[in-house]
Amino acid sequence: MAERLEVPLRPRLGLAGSVLLLVIGFVMLAEIAVYVPAIALFRENWLRDRLSAASTAVLLLDATAAQVPDRLIEDALEAVRARTIVLKMQDSRRLLASGAPPQRIDVRYDMRNASFLESVSAAFGTLTTRRNRTLAVIGPAPLGGEYIEITMAEAPLRKAMLVHSRNLLALSLIISLIVASLAALSINYLVLRPVRRLTSSIISFGDAPEDASRIIRPSGMGHELGRAEDALADMQRALLRELAEKKNLAALGLAVAKVSHDLRNMLASAQLLSDRFVESSDPLAKRLAPKLIATLDRAIAFCQSTLTYGRAVERAPVMRPMGLRGVIREAAEVLMPDGAVAGRITIRNDVPKGFQIHADPEQMFRVFLNLLRNAQEALQTAGPQPGREAEIIITATSRNGMVVVDVADTGPGVPQNAQKRLFEPFKASSRPGGTGLGLAIAADLVRAHGGTIALMPSDPGLGAAFRITLPAAEPLAHAPEEPVSPAA
Ligand SMILES: Nc1ncnc2c1ncn2[C@@H]1O[C@H](COP(=O)(O)OP(=O)(O)OP(=O)(O)O)[C@@H](O)[C@H]1O
Ligand SMILES: [Mg+2]
Repeated sequence: MAERLEVPLRPRLGLAGSVLLLVIGFVMLAEIAVYVPAIALFRENWLRDRLSAASTAVLLLDATAAQVPDRLIEDALEAVRARTIVLKMQDSRRLLASGAPPQRIDVRYDMRNASFLESVSAAFGTLTTRRNRTLAVIGPAPLGGEYIEITMAEAPLRKAMLVHSRNLLALSLIISLIVASLAALSINYLVLRPVRRLTSSIISFGDAPEDASRIIRPSGMGHELGRAEDALADMQRALLRELAEKKNLAALGLAVAKVSHDLRNMLASAQLLSDRFVESSDPLAKRLAPKLIATLDRAIAFCQSTLTYGRAVERAPVMRPMGLRGVIREAAEVLMPDGAVAGRITIRNDVPKGFQIHADPEQMFRVFLNLLRNAQEALQTAGPQPGREAEIIITATSRNGMVVVDVADTGPGVPQNAQKRLFEPFKASSRPGGTGLGLAIAADLVRAHGGTIALMPSDPGLGAAFRITLPAAEPLAHAPEEPVSPAA
C-alpha cells in the first residue's frame, strides 16, 4: 500500500523568505511616504512648464506683429496645450484664445502662493477625479507682469501624473527587490549558516554524545553566534565528561551488586561458623561472639539491601525514636572491638545519656561508622596534634528544634585539597587505599533524614570537625536509653 505523503498546509517560508517579504513591505511603505510629496512636486513642475511655455508664446506673438493670424494663435495654444492664455501686465491685458466657445472653469489653482498641503490636495484631486475638468492655472508673469493665467483641460495632466506614478511604483519595486535580496543574502550568510551549523552539531552530538569528534569547533566569530558556539562546545565537552563518569559509575554499580551478592553468601557462612563460638568454653571467644554475630548480621543485611534496592540507591530511612549515645557506642565497638587499645585512640562519647533523635538507626550507624573510621585513619596515619591525646570526641545538643551532633578529632584536619568536593563521590579521597565514598555516603544518608552535614572550622587543638544537623524528634517523654539492635 502506497504511503500517503504529508504535504504541509502552509508552506514554511523560512527566515530568509520572511526577511525578503518584510524588506519588500518596508521599502514599499517608505516609498509611499516619498510618493506623496513627489507626485505633488511633479504636478507643480508640469504646470510650471506649461506656464513658462505660455509666457514665451505670448511674448513671441507680441513681438512678431500687431495683427497675429488666427492660425498662429491656434498653433501657439496647441503647443502649450492651453485653451486660453491671459498675460496681465501693469497697464495691459493680452489674451490669446482660440475660436472655440469658452469653457466653464472647474478648478482654479494659483501657483504663486499655494502651500504644500494645497499642492498635495490639488494633486490628489487631479488623480482621483473622473470628470474631464477645465483647469485655470495662475502663475508669475515674465518681465515684471502681474500674472499669467492659462485655462486648459485637466486630462493630459492627469495622464502624465498616472504615467509618473506607474514609473515610481516600478522603480520602488525594483529597489525593494534588490534591497530585499541583499538583506536575505546577508541574513543567510551572517545568521542562517552559523545557526544551521549549531543545529546540525546539536543533532549529530545528540545522536552519539560519547563521540568527542562531534563536538562543535567554534569558528571564532566575534558576535553573539560565536559566543553561542563557544557555549555549546563547553556544554558538549562537559556532557561528554559527565557521561563518561556516569558510565563508569554504572559499571561500578553492577560490579558492586555482584560483589555484594557473593559477599553476602560468604558472610552467611562466616555467621554459621561464628555461632559455634557462643558455646565455646574460652571466655574471650564467648565475650566477643555476640559482637561478631551482630556485625556479621549487619554486613549481611547491608549486602542484601544493596542487592534489593540495588543500583547504589539507598532505601528511604525508616524513622523512629532512637538513642544517639547507643548507636555511637556500637559504631565505636565495631571500629575498635578491643576498646581504646588500637593505636591508643580514645573515642569520647560525650552524648548525654538518654539523648534521643528521630532517625533510622541502621543508617545513622553507618553515618557515624564512616566519620569515626575517617578520624581513626587520620589519627593513625598522622598522629594527634602536638600536646594532645589521640581522641575522637562526639557531642550532641538540641537547639531551635534541631539536633546538632559534632564529631571532632585531634588529628591533622582535612587536607586543603580534599575540602572543596568533600561530600562528592570519588572526588575528595586523599589517602592511599581510600575510595572517597565514605563522606558521600554519610552525606546522602543525612540528607535523606532532612539534615545537613558540614566540615566546621576547627577549634585550636582539634583537627577535623564535622557537624551533623538533624530535625529534632517529636519530644518524647524521657524514653530510656535503648540499645540499637542492628539486625532487628
Ligand atoms: N577526620 C578526618 N581527618 C582528616 N582528613 C579527613 C577526615 N575525614 C575525611 N578526611 C579526608 O577526606 C577524604 C575523603 O573521605 P572519605 O571518607 O569520603 O573517603 P576515604 O576515607 O578516602 O575513602 P573511603 O571511601 O574508604 O571512606 C579522606 O581521604 C581524607 O583525606
Ligand atoms: Mg572514609
